[in-house]
Amino acid sequence: MDKTFNVAVIVGSLRKDSINRRLALALIDLAPTSLKLDIVEIGQMPIYNQDEDASPPAAWAAFRERIKSADAVLFVTPEHNRSVPAALKNAIDVGSRPYGASVWSGKPGAVVSASPGAIGGFGANHHLRQSLVFLNVPAMAQPEVYLGAADKLFDPNGKLVSDGTRKFLQGFMKSYTAWISANVR
Ligand code: FNR
Repeated sequence: MDKTFNVAVIVGSLRKDSINRRLALALIDLAPTSLKLDIVEIGQMPIYNQDEDASPPAAWAAFRERIKSADAVLFVTPEHNRSVPAALKNAIDVGSRPYGASVWSGKPGAVVSASPGAIGGFGANHHLRQSLVFLNVPAMAQPEVYLGAADKLFDPNGKLVSDGTRKFLQGFMKSYTAWISANVR
């Protein structure tokens, strides 16, 4: 039987009606059955402060454990001011510390970005990739996913309106599964 991989899905938006959360749910829906994907929430975590490493807030400890137990990490994020939203950067920072105990290292990753704007969160996508290089997360290079005009992707029930987009995202999840399989530790 094929192995099942646990994937932590991190959504960069905290918004209730987030396009990116909807997109994350669509990706979960389209994934091959060999992936078990769960959204790991990031909005409850206090801002990282090194002073608190000795006695970390419970929300940091829970997040670190959750990522540690995952085989892989999938980021689905909007762009804020041409970079990653602060909540996502905070999650990256929390997971990277204390020094020498990063929970990210070696987890096969992928980055998806979406925006109502034309360039689909390209800036956020690539700023995130810069951090992932430092954190030793092997991030899948292709296919890239920058979804522009993303406010038009879903109908009011959260379903993708375009068959073309559905097929593209399905192909992306298939490639990501192969990436995980080839790089998992
Ligand atoms: C944005 N937005 C935005 N969009 C973009 O394409 N490039 C950008 O640099 C920014 N910057 C930005 C900053 C801040 C503080 C906010 C709140 C918003 C717009 C953004 O793409 C839009 O609000 C999306 O709907 C956010 O994604 P979610 O929350 O729907 O997933």
